[in-house]
Amino acid sequence: MHPEHISVMVEPFLEFFKDQKISVFFDGTLGAGGHSKAILQAHPEIERLIGCDRDPEALKIARKNLEPWKDKIEFVHANFAELDGILQECKKTQVNGFFLI
Ligand SMILES: C[S@@+](CC[C@H](N)C(=O)[O-])C[C@H]1O[C@@H](n2cnc3c(N)ncnc32)[C@H](O)[C@@H]1O
Repeated sequence: MHPEHISVMVEPFLEFFKDQKISVFFDGTLGAGGHSKAILQAHPEIERLIGCDRDPEALKIARKNLEPWKDKIEFVHANFAELDGILQECKKTQVNGFFLI
């Protein structure tokens, strides 16, 4: 994962969540954090974003890129297939939106 990775399909991604009120969002393929940054900017009402990636290097890059929102983000080193366990760890029982790409 390159620090300046360009996220794909950001417009349709944001369009999908347009007019939805999101409090908890799960990004299962956080990468450099481009999609998470876009959703955090478009939805300031988000209280918690769980950013998960199986690659620790990607998580390092995302931490830097998402520094302004760090208080809202839980960075998780895991496979998104472990979603149930991840939510338990983060003390959340449900999410309002999720993204895996
Ligand atoms: C194309 S990048 C994600 C780009 C990111 N959405 C962005 O905007 O920068 C894909 C990322 O998904 C991660 N990934 C792929 N499969 C995964 C899995 N099963 N669980 C967690 N992370 C995964 C990879 O490590 C990589 O960092």
